[in-house]
Amino acid sequence: MLPQQKEFGQLSGHLQNWQGRSEWFFNREHTDTYELWYEGRYKRAEIFQKKIIGSLVGKDERVKTLLEFGCGTTRFTRWWKEIGIEASGGDISPLMLGQGVRLFDGNLVLADAHFMPFKNDTFDALAFITTFEYYRDPVHVIREAARVARHGIVFGMMNRNSPKFVRRRVQQFFGKNPFYVTATFYTPQQLVALVEKALAGSLYKIEWTCTGLPKWFPVQQWGLPYGDFFGLYVRLEK
Ligand SMILES: C[S@@+](CC[C@H](N)C(=O)[O-])C[C@H]1O[C@@H](n2cnc3c(N)ncnc32)[C@H](O)[C@@H]1O
Repeated sequence: MLPQQKEFGQLSGHLQNWQGRSEWFFNREHTDTYELWYEGRYKRAEIFQKKIIGSLVGKDERVKTLLEFGCGTTRFTRWWKEIGIEASGGDISPLMLGQGVRLFDGNLVLADAHFMPFKNDTFDALAFITTFEYYRDPVHVIREAARVARHGIVFGMMNRNSPKFVRRRVQQFFGKNPFYVTATFYTPQQLVALVEKALAGSLYKIEWTCTGLPKWFPVQQWGLPYGDFFGLYVRLEK
């Protein structure tokens, strides 16, 4: 029997940067500490993110397998099995996947979400969790997702309608925040408009929920387009 692969090739050991790319996810300085964020002050936010994503996808009983693109270190990818979904992951960064391969026991692929190396209708659903913000041609990626997925597309996004959006851009202006330099933030309505453009002529239904509201707020999720994070599900009727 062949040994299980535990390392992502030989490169994770020494490499500090991937092919001269400046984005944070191609630099070890940032990728090595990525998982730690979610052990600290983002832990509470993550619980609500999973709650809304789980209830949106859970309504579509057809979804048993899923490919999560932009899976990074597999922070979210490891969780899908808790709601009965068998997940695989894909990401463009070998430095993020280098960690993911040790943390996750499913399959991972190194690829760009704009060109998914899969045949039509391979998975029940495609998921994008805090990654879609980085895609240069979002309409093209939605079409790729609708090609590879049989039943649905799941989005978990940082919301443009949030005070954090302004804070991030100010930090970035002063050179203090490298994480969102190439990111585009969307509101739920803006994402709906992109889906409508990408899937014109197809049959589908869209549902979304926001979370990431202040701790003191009476509710922690709602159907208004405000809050740090939103989940959106596109139910495909192919
Ligand atoms: C903020 S991280 C999110 C990782 C993970 N989904 C999570 O929630 O922890 C964004 C990820 O998107 C990946 N990414 C950016 N552009 C991509 C592309 N064109 N194709 C695939 N992955 C991409 C990055 O490498 C990075 O791992």
